[in-house]
Amino acid sequence: MRRFAGALLVTLGLLAGLGYITLSRITRSWFQSDLALRSQLAVASARESLASHWTSDPTLLNRTLADITRDERIMAAAACTMGGDLRAATESYPAEFSCRSVLERMRGEAPAAQQWSMRAELPSGPVHLSATLVPADGGPLGVILLVHDLSYLERRDVTTRRLLLAAFFVLSLGGGLIALTAARFAWRGWTIELRRALTGQPTPQFQPLLRDVRALAERLAHEQEREGGAGIWSPARLRATLTQHLQGERIVILANREPYVHHKTPEGVRVLHPASGLVTALEPVMRACSGVWVAHGSGSADRETADSHDRIRVPPGEESYLIRRVWLSEAEENGYYYGLSNEGLWPLCHVAHMRPVFRAGDWECYVAVNRKFADAVCEEVDTDDPIVLVQDYHFALAPRMIRARLPRATIITFWHIPWPNAERIGICPWRDELISGLLGSSILGFHTQQHCNNFIDSVDAFMESRIDRESNAVVQGPRRTLVRPYPISIEWPVRWLQQVPDVASTRLQVRAELGLPPDALLGVGVDRLDYTKGIEERLSSVDELLTRYPQYRGRFTFVQLAAPSRTKIDRYRELNERIESLAAEINARWASGSYRPVVLLRSHHEPPAVFRFYRAADLCYVSSLHDGMNLVAKEFVAARDDERGVLVLSQFTGAARDLTEALIVNPYDLRQASAALAAALAMPPAEQGERMKSMRRLVSEFNVYRWAGRMLVDAAELRRKERMVGKFRSGWSS
Ligand code: G6P
Repeated sequence: MRRFAGALLVTLGLLAGLGYITLSRITRSWFQSDLALRSQLAVASARESLASHWTSDPTLLNRTLADITRDERIMAAAACTMGGDLRAATESYPAEFSCRSVLERMRGEAPAAQQWSMRAELPSGPVHLSATLVPADGGPLGVILLVHDLSYLERRDVTTRRLLLAAFFVLSLGGGLIALTAARFAWRGWTIELRRALTGQPTPQFQPLLRDVRALAERLAHEQEREGGAGIWSPARLRATLTQHLQGERIVILANREPYVHHKTPEGVRVLHPASGLVTALEPVMRACSGVWVAHGSGSADRETADSHDRIRVPPGEESYLIRRVWLSEAEENGYYYGLSNEGLWPLCHVAHMRPVFRAGDWECYVAVNRKFADAVCEEVDTDDPIVLVQDYHFALAPRMIRARLPRATIITFWHIPWPNAERIGICPWRDELISGLLGSSILGFHTQQHCNNFIDSVDAFMESRIDRESNAVVQGPRRTLVRPYPISIEWPVRWLQQVPDVASTRLQVRAELGLPPDALLGVGVDRLDYTKGIEERLSSVDELLTRYPQYRGRFTFVQLAAPSRTKIDRYRELNERIESLAAEINARWASGSYRPVVLLRSHHEPPAVFRFYRAADLCYVSSLHDGMNLVAKEFVAARDDERGVLVLSQFTGAARDLTEALIVNPYDLRQASAALAAALAMPPAEQGERMKSMRRLVSEFNVYRWAGRMLVDAAELRRKERMVGKFRSGWSS
């Protein structure tokens, strides 16, 4: 920016110099013709007197000359004969300009002219000498020589120069200020565009939709206004919010997946952190707030590690909150979790071209298990108006069930996956029950406004209710459910990073472990093995990259961390096999020596191991075909405190609305995705830094504490209103 301002000022300075030279030339020539004209006028007006005294009395001729020199700019005058003799001259007439010499020059330079003039230097300063013929009937009588003082011209020149310089200075300053202000606003976009144009990178096609950028800008402005400069959200601020707005009531979370799973291993019991965006987001919130997390006890050592009330204090060593484990029989798990939740609702809500499977038996299980969990929640609360956070598609019925037992509860439900359009939701045989169950909530949250709109449209299409579009609420009798977007995020700073060495050492270590040279280019993908994640499309894009950009053959390696998931379901097992053979096929195509472009690591990786890969990579590709948010994208950004690395992100993720500085792609379009991978690998460090810095700023501010805080503040407001309405009602009835 400073260089730009400097260049601007130099340019304006040069322009000012050039302007001055041109202008001073023009004014000089104007002054010369002005003086010539003056001389002509002076001689013409004295013509009669000159003619009458020319041959008679030289004293009178002298007087006439003296009259002419009354003009303050005419210093001296002389009258010469055509033969070059002096007839008369004023006292101060300089001897340098003798009649003869002047007439010779005049005849040489302008033989037929009535007047001739020249500029000359005298010891006293510059002068203008003019020779004008004195006309008479029989031919010119002679010549009048006039000497004009030019020092006033010099003075005028200096003043003009000063004025001009001052004017140009003011103009430059004004212009510079305007240019700097404009540059301040346009600089970033402009430099990026310029750089892209210069490097020939095809990045413009990976830009986010303008609509998304505008929506993000509006959201940020709205958030800033709402927050009123209260600072960044942290665990402490979240805790304070809970105490201040909700009188410190503890929170009860209901989520199928537990944050700590105890497993039996040959080495003893191991605690695992499951691969789940929901857990990634909610665990830090629970740590900050304390309370109870009600979840399915799915680990092989969960029973033996829980107490007689099925509870266990976590996190291990810290013990700031409780997990209440609910046990499910195999049949219950099959029907509720694998069946209705993951073969029915999961494909129903994700546009990933998988038909949902709806089995009546699974539905019955789902209803029964929702009741079982709702009962567990009611056992864990310690007031009749608790705050309950119900999570995700496993528990669409629980909000109404809890409401039936605790009418005064504040129930905040968050749907972590997309909510499809009404037409699609309409194919579910139990759509009315699902929607009605969710409407038991006080607040129903989705990641994006689009999902909120889809939900409201579904209510409109299938339910008896009133929709208050102004406040985005569904009203059924005396109860209302607010439907709001709350884009989820991650903790900031991420605690796992404390266990990972800095980027430089991690880069070297990871490359060495993979048997790669230290300067190898590395891409990373991190997912559960799920068909919504677009892992096949991602590997095919790597294949396309190597086909279309031969310079990366032998240099670029893509590591896919894939955590096995829902493996009882055929589709997931099939996907696993397809991915394995695709990776083998690509590797066979591009293998040379020990080089293999795809490294498939199909096992559970604990968070520090995942973060090592984020830190070691040159790029991270998130290629989901449909994703509510996707926290891998945000984790990659959090890991890169070196402000390097490029995020290539599917436009079908909720995260693409927040992380507009990523390279946004359609993962189905292999040409586009491979071009984005190539652009990422060729991106200059300065542009990487610029993009990463901006994404880090956004994720750090819009962290998960803010996500939870905003929902709790909204819930507190709602509670206050409901309490007031309650008081009025009891007042009226008494
Ligand atoms: C998604 C869901 C979560 C779920 C996670 C892992 O992120 O929204 O509710 O926990 O996937 O899936 P799993 O079936 O292993 O819990």
